[in-house]
Amino acid sequence: MKILIINGPNLNLLGKREPDTYGNKTFEEYFSILQFKYRNIELSYYQSNIEGELIDKLQNSEDFDGIVLNAAAYTHTSVGIGDAIRAIETPVVEVHISNTFSREEFRHKSYISPAAAGVIIGFGMQSYDLGIQSFIKEH
Ligand code: DQA
Repeated sequence: MKILIINGPNLNLLGKREPDTYGNKTFEEYFSILQFKYRNIELSYYQSNIEGELIDKLQNSEDFDGIVLNAAAYTHTSVGIGDAIRAIETPVVEVHISNTFSREEFRHKSYISPAAAGVIIGFGMQSYDLGIQSFIKEH
């Protein structure tokens, strides 16, 4: 099984960025924990601060069985990313580190959720782990 994790803008700063909200771990540190935990799954990671690059990556995802996507701030603005998810066959699970519903009103709207297979919000970095688990069919 091949799963791709995609992170959007500013998530390259995890570990340094607003640690009270997003924690102290860099994504690279957390990704190696996930790779060890899921050594029988081929996990890949992509991050971009650029909306069009995120759309290109989604469009070129046919090799993957599933995508775990944290579109970060683009979640709340990007019709283009929502449309890209609708345009591809690979299922996309939307994840967020923070509970966006306990934050500012503008974070309550998602252009990703209506196109996503499911949504996981507010479990810290563990949201990515739960996103991966959603693709592991046990029955
Ligand atoms: C985020 C929530 C977004 O509102 C914010 O813009 C982010 C991160 C999260 O993972 O909690 O950059 O997607």
